[in-house]
Amino acid sequence: MLKVGIIGASGYTGGELLRFLQNHPQVEIVAVTSRQYHETPIKKIHPHLRDSDLVFKDIAASAMDADLIFTATPHGASMKLVPEILETGTRVIDLSGDYRFDDVKTYEKWYGFSHENPQEAVYGLPELYREEIKKANLVANPGCFPTGALMATLPLAKEKIVENVIIDSKTGVSGAGITPTSVTHYPNCSDNVTPYAIINHRHMPEIEQELSKISPVKVSFTPHLVPVIRGILSTVHTFLTEEISSSELELIYQKYFQKEPFVRILEEGEIPALSAVRGSNYAHVGSFQIDQHGRAVIISAIDNLVKGASGQAVHNMNLMCGFDEKESLDIYGMHP
Ligand SMILES: NC(=O)c1ccc[n+]([C@@H]2O[C@H](COP(=O)([O-])OP(=O)(O)OC[C@H]3O[C@@H](n4cnc5c(N)ncnc54)[C@H](OP(=O)(O)O)[C@@H]3O)[C@@H](O)[C@H]2O)c1
Repeated sequence: MLKVGIIGASGYTGGELLRFLQNHPQVEIVAVTSRQYHETPIKKIHPHLRDSDLVFKDIAASAMDADLIFTATPHGASMKLVPEILETGTRVIDLSGDYRFDDVKTYEKWYGFSHENPQEAVYGLPELYREEIKKANLVANPGCFPTGALMATLPLAKEKIVENVIIDSKTGVSGAGITPTSVTHYPNCSDNVTPYAIINHRHMPEIEQELSKISPVKVSFTPHLVPVIRGILSTVHTFLTEEISSSELELIYQKYFQKEPFVRILEEGEIPALSAVRGSNYAHVGSFQIDQHGRAVIISAIDNLVKGASGQAVHNMNLMCGFDEKESLDIYGMHP
């Protein structure tokens, strides 16, 4: 059995890690941390996990006796925890942005403070780095928007038929984590659509980093908060550098993702729906329509807490530990 610990288990991604790991046949959860809920049974905070006897502890990673630790902690907090864990020989999957950038200066520019503890990490997008993830000691789990955006753009970069993309994303409120703010306060976000970080969201350089390793691509990205709890729907607009038909475009995606267990390519004209992926680790990619001016529109849908965070983290754990990569994740979404 793989002994697993979760730091930040009282948050939203921590709760989702618990939901998937509870029934994983090769995993024993040995410790779950929360500073504010020390000695509280997890079902008091995650009421859906009724049958769990786990209790939150405010303990250091060194006291966990784990083979692998998930750090489901905010950026800035992870970098204070991860190096110490790695020193003890325990592998880490970090869900924050702290280890996603190849160049620490890019991190510092977009996150606005110095990185205290840079480490070598593998970017944890299985569709790109499956073999590297298997051997990694530290996996930097991708951001939620980048995951959705990359599902909709990687095949274009691979074919080198794109130079610029405009990504317009709509996200559910759980993307902001468990702590309420004035933006996520119900009267402010319900019945409303709120664009934010219109030209300077920190997930933009993450998307650009990964696409540009394949082919130089300029990324423009604007997120919007919409009144749903889960999900990210990304609409990608781009003028392709080659004239191709919609069906050829769909075929490019079919071929690129054909062996991927968690990506489903919809037929030309079919539109991905948040409700079809909610609760699941699947990404749906569709549309593949090209207008009279040559603008191609590709749309992806993911659950930000699952494929965009904890499901992808469990996928990475399965790869790192040689388990069946679909173990405990092979469930459909919750339509309607
Ligand atoms: N929400 C999403 O859709 C999403 C998607 C992809 C990635 N992420 C990333 O995943 C990470 C967790 O996100 P989340 O949405 O789960 O956040 P969250 O709901 O705010 O939970 C984070 C948890 O971390 C704990 N924590 C905070 N500071 C800590 C520290 N210094 N040391 C130890 N524990 C600390 C807190 O628990 P206690 O206060 O009880 O200790 C809190 O419950 C973030 O880096 C986020 O950017 C989130």
